Formats: sequence, C-alpha cells, structure tokens
Amino acid sequence: MKILVTGGLGYIGSHTVVELLNQNYQVVIVDNLSNTSLDVLDGIYQIANVKPDFELLDLRNKSDVEFLFKKYDGFDGVIHFAASKAVGESVANPLHYYENNINSLVYLLQEVLKNPNTAFIFSSSCTVYGQSIELPITEKAPFQTALSPYGNTKQIGEEIIEDVVKSCGLNAILLRYFNPIGAHHSGLIGELPLGIPQNLVPYITQTALGIRTELAVFGNDYNTADGTCVRDYIHVVDLAKAHVISLVRLLNQKNVTPLEVFNLGTGNGHSVLELIHTFQVVTGVNIPYKFVDRRAGDVESAYADTQKATDILGWKANLTLADALKSAWLWEQNHTSKKLANTK
Ligand code: UFG
Repeated sequence: MKILVTGGLGYIGSHTVVELLNQNYQVVIVDNLSNTSLDVLDGIYQIANVKPDFELLDLRNKSDVEFLFKKYDGFDGVIHFAASKAVGESVANPLHYYENNINSLVYLLQEVLKNPNTAFIFSSSCTVYGQSIELPITEKAPFQTALSPYGNTKQIGEEIIEDVVKSCGLNAILLRYFNPIGAHHSGLIGELPLGIPQNLVPYITQTALGIRTELAVFGNDYNTADGTCVRDYIHVVDLAKAHVISLVRLLNQKNVTPLEVFNLGTGNGHSVLELIHTFQVVTGVNIPYKFVDRRAGDVESAYADTQKATDILGWKANLTLADALKSAWLWEQNHTSKKLANTK
C-alpha cells in the first residue's frame, strides 16, 4: 500500500511516517521544508531503518501536485498534514494562511478525485470548537466563530472535504487534535519550533535548557482550579498511531459513513501550572515562571470526550503526561546539542 504523507517531515507528520513504516507501508513524503529540515528524514531513517521516498515540493503549485500523482500513479491513501499552524502569524498574515492551507487542499483533492477510492485523512484541530459550551467536548459540539485565520482554515478545510465527500464519492476521516506534545522516545525526532516558541511545551524545554530565562504564564485569573488555562495534552506518538488506525479503517472500507470525524485527546484536562509541576517532577529541572496577562484568543478550558474514538476506532491514548514531558525533554537536549555541534 502506497501512502502519501504531506508535511511528512513536520512534527506530527514525521511521527506518523514512523508508525506507517513500522507497519510496512510504502510511504511517500512531500514537504516544502518551510517549517522543518532534512535532518528529520535522517531521524526517521534511524528509527525505522527504512528510507521513505521524499519529494521536495510545494502543494501550492498545482502543476507540482499533478506531477506528484502522475509520478507515483496515484496513492492508496493520503494523510494531509501540510499546513501553516501558528495562530499569531495567521492573524498577522491571513492571506498566507488561506493560500497555503486552502489552495493546497483544493489541488490535492483535485488529484485524489482522479481515483476516488483513495483513503483521505485530514489533520484538523480542536480549534474548530473555539470555547465550547460543553466540557468535555464531543464531536457534536458546534463550530464557534474562528478566533484566527488559522482556525478558520481548519473549519473551511473540513467544510471543503465534507462537500467533496457528498458529491464525489470520496471517503475521508477528519481528525481533530487537542494539544499534541512530546516526541519519539528515541529522542531522534520531535517538535522544531522556528524562533521563539509559541506553544507551551517547547517554551518550557527551552527554559529548562537555559535558552529562555523565564516562562510567561498567560493569565492566572481564569475560572479553573488554579486560575490557569486547561488543555488536553496528547502524546504525539499516540496521535500518530491514531492516523494509522484511521487509515486502515478507510482502506478496509470499515467506515460506516463516507465522512467520519474523531476527537483525538486523552480526555483529561491539565492546567498550565500542573504541566509545569509535572515537568519539574519528571526531569528534576526547575522552571522559573511568572504570571502575565492573558493571551488574546486563548480559550479557558478545552478537553476531549474520547468515547467515539475509543468505541469506533478502538483507539485510546496510552502514554501519560509524564511520558510526553520526559520525551520532549530528551528531544530538546539531543536536538539542541546537535545544533550547537553543527554551528561549531
Ligand atoms: N501558554 C503559556 N505560556 C506560553 C505558551 C503557552 O502560559 O509561553 C499557555 C497558553 O496560554 C495555553 C496553554 O499554555 O493556556 C497551551 O498553549 P499552546 O500555545 O501550547 O496551545 P494552544 O492551546 O494555544 O494551541 C493549540 C494548538 C493550536 C490550536 C489551538 C486551538 O497548538 O494549533 O490549540 O485552541 F490552534
């Protein structure tokens, strides 16, 4: 089975490629390296002992997408990760987000539809729910107005796929991630934030290493147990495994409806302070932090109802918050020491 993974050198993409290779799928990675590096391909190779095919191309070029599908004579499955994902950047540069996240999806689907039997998995986000009225959040919770162009591209992306599934015979699964964190246990692949990290865990690991002096905790006056925001942090390896399970479901035509949607989270909410505390306990490293104002656009609490994924996909998060933070720390240390060695 030949599987195309777009954005396959990115954070979640690379971990999913490893899981696919572990299951002996033939994997073709497409990446434009806009937010990652070729070192990730080496990391994948070292873990899986197999070299996936790699195509350096940009899905915004329609002719490149056509070339890709011709070259490989189509694919049995496509897992579409390639997208820009920084909330703040999307507010500053919305057209980049609409061009990158929407045009690419349209060009990709145009090629996929030449063989509508292709299994299609879309990387979505709990951002589509905004601040949900219900907690935990089920897949039935309505979309709230998107708080950023990034969030809007995930909502629009889902709607485009829904329309295509309705009229063109495609089978697809939308996976709505909560907060992916952690890294492969080998420490060979992980998250590679560009510049100052926007997300909590890379900021913590960089603070632990002394690259940042202090973590700013955005807000301690929320209506939560300790006043800081609550999220559902899910280990990226558990997330990657859910992609393979979803793919197999579509390939084996086990899906009940042509379009299925699943939340991918642990079902547990943790506050920012709990996360800092757990990091300190599992690594023995102190994290200096201070409280600052709330960050614009942050929701107070978000955690998943995972019943549907458990019942229908037979998938459940197995790794703990401690596992995720330990692996993120190992990755940060390996990655930074490698970077320093390369600059000497
Ligand atoms: N936080 C801090 N300090 C930091 C960074 C984050 O206190 O330096 C807090 C945030 O305020 C939030 C929590 O840590 O309460 C998690 O923040 P992240 O930035 O790690 O994650 P978000 O929940 O904001 O973002 C995630 C995904 C996005 C997605 C968004 C939707 O990373 O892709 O959920 O809510 F759009």
